[in-house]
Parts: sequence; structure tokens; C-alpha cells
Amino acid sequence: MSIALDRPRRITRLLVTGGAGFIGSNFVHRTLATRPDVRITVLDAMTYAANPANLAGLDAARVEVVEGSVCDAALVDRLVGELKSPGEDEGAAAVVHFAAESHNDNALRDPLRFVRTNTEGTAVLAGACVRHGVHLHHISTDEVFGDLPLRGSGQPGSEDRFTVATPYNPSSVYSASKASADHLVRAFVRSHGLSATISNCSNNYGPRQHPEKFLPRQITGLLDEETPRLYGTGENVRDWIHVDDHNDAVWAILDRGVAGETYLIGADGERSNLECVRALNLLFGRDADDFVHVTDRPGHDLRYAIDPSSVAALGWTPRYTDFAAGLAATVDWYRDNRAWWETSRKDAELIYRAAEKILD
Ligand code: NAD
Ligand code: TYD
Repeated sequence: MSIALDRPRRITRLLVTGGAGFIGSNFVHRTLATRPDVRITVLDAMTYAANPANLAGLDAARVEVVEGSVCDAALVDRLVGELKSPGEDEGAAAVVHFAAESHNDNALRDPLRFVRTNTEGTAVLAGACVRHGVHLHHISTDEVFGDLPLRGSGQPGSEDRFTVATPYNPSSVYSASKASADHLVRAFVRSHGLSATISNCSNNYGPRQHPEKFLPRQITGLLDEETPRLYGTGENVRDWIHVDDHNDAVWAILDRGVAGETYLIGADGERSNLECVRALNLLFGRDADDFVHVTDRPGHDLRYAIDPSSVAALGWTPRYTDFAAGLAATVDWYRDNRAWWETSRKDAELIYRAAEKILD
């Protein structure tokens, strides 16, 4: 069976959950810029991870922001129901579900918050989409597959990448809660007739990412003349993709993805954390090796790598193929937007510094 629709959907009404966070807000901005006929309702609980500035000044005729939780069944039911207007094409409405607790380090401290939002919240949305006959696109992560051995290590699987056939093997409560959400979406498809697609993407970078995450933590630290901090040895590998490339792939799936299918999104961006920190130091005119090793994350996944052929089959290709240039543009964004990150960096560092030790 083909994994691409012959005739694209024509979506004009979206409910975007988590639209005030990093990837969701970039999705809203990009949609407004590239899809003039789409109107959006954002549902966001405005947790510490959201920044109201992310959605400030947008065209009110095209974007409505509702503060509330994806776990609030009555609210979700109303918002999904309101997506369908009489006389509009049946397939014109969809939900794009970004809302989540998204940080592994926080899952170590407060796992139940992840279970509630990521798992229960997804089931609430899926149920509302079934009742109202609205398509759900569920945003997930490559972390559901667990990790791969380092390339060239000689370990079985070290030359592999994740594919749509890779079995789930999550390592952290974050990954496990996202894996349960994926399973729930598939169960709603099979047993309740939900129309849904799922995408599992690799690590994103770009503007508006919270300074608790790896790259913004190092970038904002460097802007504050702090030394970059690598967990453990720094040999862990992530497969970096620019957030706009991720969101363009989501649109390719909304347009042409087949209901019931899963798509893996990645941009051939494998880099070790050490390579990233060296590149950032050089961008700041510093000695590449001026960083500290700090306490490693328990259960730290070694390597992620995506085979993007499923989403490439929809005609999508990444535009940000030069990681150094994408990183430099991201550094410029943080340099130009200190007011956006200063308070959240302080809050995040208070938590980090209380727990981490500098290793020899
Ligand atoms: P983020 O933490 O920056 O944003 C999450 C948003 O969800 C925030 O605005 C937050 O307020 C909102 N939210 C949290 N709990 C909520 C609730 N109960 N109800 C409604 N809104 C709630 O996360 P992100 O990095 O933008 O990630 C977005 C999605 O993409 C997540 O589902 C994540 O698992 C997935 N993902 C992220 C990456 C990455 O590299 N960041 C990679 C692959 C997949
Ligand atoms: P992170 O941005 O938390 O994303 P994820 O855990 O979803 O991959 O971390 C990316 C990588 O960077 C991960 O291997 C952990 C590592 N890391 C550091 O080395 N130093 C840091 O200060 C942080 C926050 C992360």
C-alpha cells in the first residue's frame, strides 16, 4: 500500500496543542507565513516551558490562543467540536498535537507529570477526535525506540538507523510516556476508528527553544560568559534537525500522509555532543576544548539516528543541510533576544547547579 495520498487533503482549520512551546510556536509562525488560508486555535497550558512572547502580536483573525490543559476533557471536546463548521469540507479540520512535558532531566525528578500530560492528554485528544470525526496528527519522538550503539563501535546495530519497523524500547519516563501515547493513538485507530498519523522526529534546534535544553543551554551560557557543560564523556550522538524542517515535514504529512501510517523525520544530522560544544566554542571565538564535563544523566541514551525515507516518500527534503550555518543563525537569534531567555535560563540553572558536579 502507498504511504502517500494521491490527492492531498485541503486543511484550513487546525487545533494546535502546545503551540506556545518551542516546536509548536515555530509551527504556528511557519503556518501563518506559508498557508494563507489556515486558521489556528492554540491550546496550551502555559507551563514553565511556554513563553507568551512566542505568540505575541499574531493576526487575531487567524490565531486564537486558549489557555488550558489537554487533560481537560470538556475543554478539549469543545475545541475539537468547534473546528468543524457547517458547509466546510469534511476533511478541512485537523488537530496537531505537540503538547507534552518534553525534558528528560525533568522526568527524572517528576515522572508522574509526564505520564499525565503525555499519555492521558493524548488519550483525551484522541477520544475527542473520534467523537467529532477530526483527523489527529500526533507529534512524537525518536526516543521511543531507545538508543543505538555508537557508529564504528563494532556493536551489533552500530551502523543502523531507526526505521518505521524498529521495535519500541524507551529508556526514560519521558520516552516511555511518549511511547505509550503512540500506542494509544494506534489503539484508537484500530478499535475506535480514529483517523490519525504519527511522526517520530529527532532532536530539533532553532529559535525559541527553552534554555534547559542542550544547545540553548550552552548558547545562553556562552552569551553569559559561562563554560559549556557536557554530560559525562560527551560522546553521545543526537541527529539534529532544524525546527522549520521538522514543521515542513509535519505539513507534508498533513497534506499527503495516509491515515494509520507513521513517518520518521530526520535530516542526516548526526553529531556528538562534544562536536556540538566544540562548534559553539569556535562560533564564540573561544578555544574549541574549553568546556567542563559534568555529572552524566542516569540512563543517558547513547545514539539516535533516523532513516527519513518514510517522510521523503511524501516529497519532503530538509532545507537546512548546513548544520554549522543553522547553528550560527540560532546563536544570532539568542544574542538578539536576551529578554526572551534570561529569566528561564536563571530558573533552569538553579535546578541544574543544585544537582551537577564538575568531573575531572
Ligand atoms: P516544549 O516543552 O518547548 O513545549 C511544550 C508545550 O506544551 C509548552 O508550551 C507547554 O506549555 C505545553 N504543555 C505542557 N503540558 C500541557 C498540557 N497539559 N496541556 C496543554 N499544553 C501543555 O516542547 P517542544 O520541544 O516544543 O516539543 C513539542 C513536541 O515535540 C513534544 O510532543 C515532544 O515530545 C516532541 N518532540 C520534541 C523534540 C525536540 O527536539 N524538542 C524532538 C522530537 C519530538
Ligand atoms: P537534550 O537537549 O536534553 O535532549 P534529549 O535528551 O532529548 O536528547 O539533550 C541533548 C543531549 O545533550 C543529550 O545527550 C544530553 C546532553 N546534554 C549535555 O551534555 N549537557 C547539558 O547541559 C544538557 C542539558 C544536555
